[in-house]
Amino acid sequence: MNKKLFPAIAFGLLSLLAVGGAISACTGTSAEAPDKSDVEGRIEALLSQMTLEEKIGQLNQLTGVGCQPARIQEIRSGSVGSILNEVDPDTVNALQREAVENSRLGIPLLIARDVIHGFKTIFPIPVGQAATWNPALVEEGARIAADEASSVGVRWTFSPMVDVSRDARWGRVAESFGEDPYLSGVLGVAMVKGYQTDDLSQPNTMAACVKHFVGYGASEGGKDYNTTWIPEPHLRDVYLPPFKACADAGAATFMCSFNDINGMPTNADKHLLRDILRGEWGWDGLMCSDWSSIQQMVPQGYCRDLKETAEKAANAGVDMDMQSFAYIGHLKELVEEGKVSEKTLDDLVRNVLRVKFRLGLFDNPYVDTATARRFFTASNLDASRRAAEESAILLKNEDGVLPLKPGIRIALAGPMMDARHDQNGTWVFDLEKDSTVTVLDAMKEMYGAGRIIEAQGLGFSRDKSSAAIASAAAKAKGADVIVYVCGEEAVLSGEAHCRTDLTLPGAQKEMLARLKATGKPVVTVVMTGRPMDITDVVANSDAVLYCFHPGTMGGPAIANVLSGKVNPSGHLPVSLPKASAQQPLYYSHKNTGRPAEGITLIDDIPLEAGQTSTGCTSFYLDAGDGALYPFGYGLSYTDFSYGPVVLSSDRMATDGSITATCEIENTGSVKGSTVAQLYVRDMVGSLCRPVKELKGFDKIELAPGEKRTVSFTVNASDLAFHQADNTLAVEPGDFKLWIAPDSESGDAKDFIVE
Ligand code: NOJ
Repeated sequence: MNKKLFPAIAFGLLSLLAVGGAISACTGTSAEAPDKSDVEGRIEALLSQMTLEEKIGQLNQLTGVGCQPARIQEIRSGSVGSILNEVDPDTVNALQREAVENSRLGIPLLIARDVIHGFKTIFPIPVGQAATWNPALVEEGARIAADEASSVGVRWTFSPMVDVSRDARWGRVAESFGEDPYLSGVLGVAMVKGYQTDDLSQPNTMAACVKHFVGYGASEGGKDYNTTWIPEPHLRDVYLPPFKACADAGAATFMCSFNDINGMPTNADKHLLRDILRGEWGWDGLMCSDWSSIQQMVPQGYCRDLKETAEKAANAGVDMDMQSFAYIGHLKELVEEGKVSEKTLDDLVRNVLRVKFRLGLFDNPYVDTATARRFFTASNLDASRRAAEESAILLKNEDGVLPLKPGIRIALAGPMMDARHDQNGTWVFDLEKDSTVTVLDAMKEMYGAGRIIEAQGLGFSRDKSSAAIASAAAKAKGADVIVYVCGEEAVLSGEAHCRTDLTLPGAQKEMLARLKATGKPVVTVVMTGRPMDITDVVANSDAVLYCFHPGTMGGPAIANVLSGKVNPSGHLPVSLPKASAQQPLYYSHKNTGRPAEGITLIDDIPLEAGQTSTGCTSFYLDAGDGALYPFGYGLSYTDFSYGPVVLSSDRMATDGSITATCEIENTGSVKGSTVAQLYVRDMVGSLCRPVKELKGFDKIELAPGEKRTVSFTVNASDLAFHQADNTLAVEPGDFKLWIAPDSESGDAKDFIVE
């Protein structure tokens, strides 16, 4: 029965149907037309009409099961606030109609989906997008994802993930922007803007969900869902800043993480969720749990039963329960017993309603099925290709083997050369894999099928069968150059897909060695979901192009880079290790009291050498120290020279700023882009400081012979860090500053903060 008596309808559907503002504001008691911009007023008006059950219903998120009668009944009774994983526009509209027309208050549903790096048109996985160091491109990708997904009714995506990820074993590094808090924050904000635009109420937007709050990337041992130990000053310096940046940019929602921090599950952490997020940051969005993360406080050993998990999560400030059934099952009882106050409950409901109002769902709840399915447009595919091109990182290029010379015969080998599914990476629920263009497709198109010798050799990345390797190598020998496309299948990274061995799986190393033995130049393309140990790959390849899973247009993008049509400009957003066990690995480490020097490697140690013979400094006997390729690194087909850094002053007040400039010249013969990176080091602090911290970057394109001066303003506040008592302070003292194309090069410039 249709009971359009209440404010949601008055503000929503009826206003849609009966434009002119003649409709009574809510219950019929007010003659005033609602002020649509008064979101808080609308929330209060609606809240005042809600029963306890209806309030709790708004906090309940369920996964999609289509239009099953039981689900329809739940929606009509007002016990569902949000549905995830429903992507058919007709179903979305049908469910929405039940909520809007057939529930007592007509409150629309929030339809959610994991749209992580594209909906239908797939972009590079987020760590690949981070390799572009191009916020505009990241924003464009998110805009396109929102346009495609909202066209079927998805108005809430669980993205961006801004977990700082410093352990390559952790499968979710694929979904991150890498190891650096600053880069993660800048790119997280770009994604939020792309999804939400400046006007979230437009029907082609999605509310962003910044996740996972917080510290999840520090999962012990790089094993998913594991515990984390993070002292609060470190949490505030490293893990919280990207979330803060996204909150400041207006991110509509956040998601709680699965981990506990120092023994406290984040889903129960009042200090994090209330004091810091709502209190210090003043954020007023919606905090949802992760999938059954409220319930998981039982196996975590923090709560006795589901009821207690609901009490802890609600009191901590988790607004929406994703699939734990803890709120719907127990909140009523908890409120009646006084264990969760009505005020607390109302605040949770307010946060949910606020997002629905901001999304314009009360005014326009339905998908326009006439314009539904805006997928794979030429411009969307073009943007996906550009993102994949800019995410490709050239790590090695000996004797100028790249770009490939015109007119040559190319052997294409390896398990990822034609991986229509796998080149799209993790989190592609809505993939239409036949739309993917592989490297094989693109190389045939570019060079003509007659010039491409197919020598795949291995069926998939984990393939251990060497049976076809010898014949593939024999075929490849007939080419002028071999392009070996190897890596990891999509399923080897992402949630719950962690690895301890970071080298190429299966028989891929063996195959590369066989290809190398042909004597032909070998160009290796590594297509992967994480930073890998590619020591052997580098040794056996003349050139190495590192590509995180590049998405729909990965093939053309890689072909364009290999051929030189596009000059590679990706830079690493992570450190590549020299050995799998060298984890966690990140450039911004502490110096230690005995930084690595005089490294003696295992095979150089004399027999019966004395205990101190290798020198007593901080390194591994079998891997030395540092990265195989450092954070920020990436080559080009041209060369850049970075001039000396010039400071506007070598002294800065604790509330002042200075400008750092550097002239960069393209000294090669082709146009190309470099990423100028600004790093600083605080030499002495009241807590030990990292050896370098990224504070800015600028990706610039230069024609051959062109020079440009990049300029960064360094504010004293950029140099602040959290003290032992968790307050933020700028400490006077000596600093160093670099402007360089990666985290290991460049000459330091000194300045003093006083
Ligand atoms: C669990 C994952 O941790 C989270 O990132 C995702 O958004 C939810 N499941 C919903 O699928």
